[in-house]
Amino acid sequence: MYNPYQIVNNIYYVGVNDRHKMFFENMIPLPNGVSYNSYLIVDEKVVLIDTVDTAFCEQFLRQIKEILGNRVVDYVVVDHMEPDHSASLLALIREYPEIQIVGNVKTISMITGFYDICKGFYEVGDGDTLSIGQHQLQFYLTPMVHWPEVMMTYDVTDKILFSADAFGCFGTLDGAVVDAKLQSLDKYWHEMYRYYANIVGKYGSAVQQAFKKLATLSIETIASTHGPIWTSNRLPQVMSVYDKLSRYEGEKGVVVVYGSMYGHTEEMAETVARGIVENGIPVVLHDVSKSHSADILADIFKYKGLIIGSPTYCNGLYPEIASLINKLEVRGVKNRIFGAFGSFTWAGTSVKNLNLFAEKMGWELIGTVEQKQSLSLENSKSLLELCNSMSLSIK
Ligand SMILES: Cc1cc2nc3c(=O)[nH]c(=O)nc-3n(C[C@H](O)[C@H](O)[C@H](O)COP(=O)(O)O)c2cc1C
Ligand SMILES: [Fe+2]
Ligand SMILES: [Fe+2]
Repeated sequence: MYNPYQIVNNIYYVGVNDRHKMFFENMIPLPNGVSYNSYLIVDEKVVLIDTVDTAFCEQFLRQIKEILGNRVVDYVVVDHMEPDHSASLLALIREYPEIQIVGNVKTISMITGFYDICKGFYEVGDGDTLSIGQHQLQFYLTPMVHWPEVMMTYDVTDKILFSADAFGCFGTLDGAVVDAKLQSLDKYWHEMYRYYANIVGKYGSAVQQAFKKLATLSIETIASTHGPIWTSNRLPQVMSVYDKLSRYEGEKGVVVVYGSMYGHTEEMAETVARGIVENGIPVVLHDVSKSHSADILADIFKYKGLIIGSPTYCNGLYPEIASLINKLEVRGVKNRIFGAFGSFTWAGTSVKNLNLFAEKMGWELIGTVEQKQSLSLENSKSLLELCNSMSLSIK
């Protein structure tokens, strides 16, 4: 028995929890699972907003039927084509052959490309309205708030923004779907950083564009495609997290990430972490071989300072560090205050490579320390100087 969640009058949550998937996009660990959110508006016309991952297709259709009985779904709005939201479309059409698929010109071409669906489209453009009875739906194109076809659907009547991936986070919805009814929101705030850094991270300027476009709307509820439905009390916090992240505006704090085979670079990392903390600045320390890059990226998006340590390895960076900085480059992380350190034995290149990387990213470089073999007293002092410069810049 499903027992549907009614969000407001005649708007139901019909999404699902995925507690099985190990890695989102086959890369990002899901220790708290993930939800694929979908919403059903039952008015003179019945409208479904987005669908769910194909693994949950049967459950999804059952939930819809439980609410609708013999009524049919008249429209499905496709806000985002990534398959975690669109892959149940084919089954939905099989169930409701007369359904109209609402999307913009880019969505429609992707639907044809992915699913070989060529008819039944209801094309909308930026600002268009669809009246379905009591409810008026308005569509806002917000390209690259994850993919180029992404749009958001605003329910003028209930002031709900169906925001696609924006404002989403990982984490299943346990026993409730609306923020005010969930026992604790702690895990979702952390998961919001992980979600943003790993999924939306590259598209900060697109998120800012979307903010501008939505600025005039009166929004009382945000219903995204992942995580809790956010209502009045929490909206400012959710908006603020996304706003800061998309402006690459880090909080006061330093992430120290290092790789180390035999402990020499690690000793430098310990010295750095201590030096920063003694200046009263929060530190997060990651051993690149132990922490998953998804978690390291979340912290790097969160904090303003970044110090990376790498041994020289076959004339270059420690491969795990090379992989991490590639991920930072892919996401175009901006505005970081940066320091570097590393140990070598015969010809050091790692610190030089880290400097070149920081230059390429346009970051402020506040210092470097390169150590031949074991950490010397002199270089311990240099590391503390690096910490002091970092702390001054952060403050
Ligand atoms: C597989 C491997 C490759 C290395 N390549 C270089 C190198 O190209 N140049 C160099 O100066 N040292 C090289 N080293 C030596 C290490 O950089 C050096 O011992 C450093 O102190 C190791 O730091 P760690 O104790 O933090 O792992 C290499 C060591 C290993 C194990
Ligand atoms: Fe997406
Ligand atoms: Fe998504």
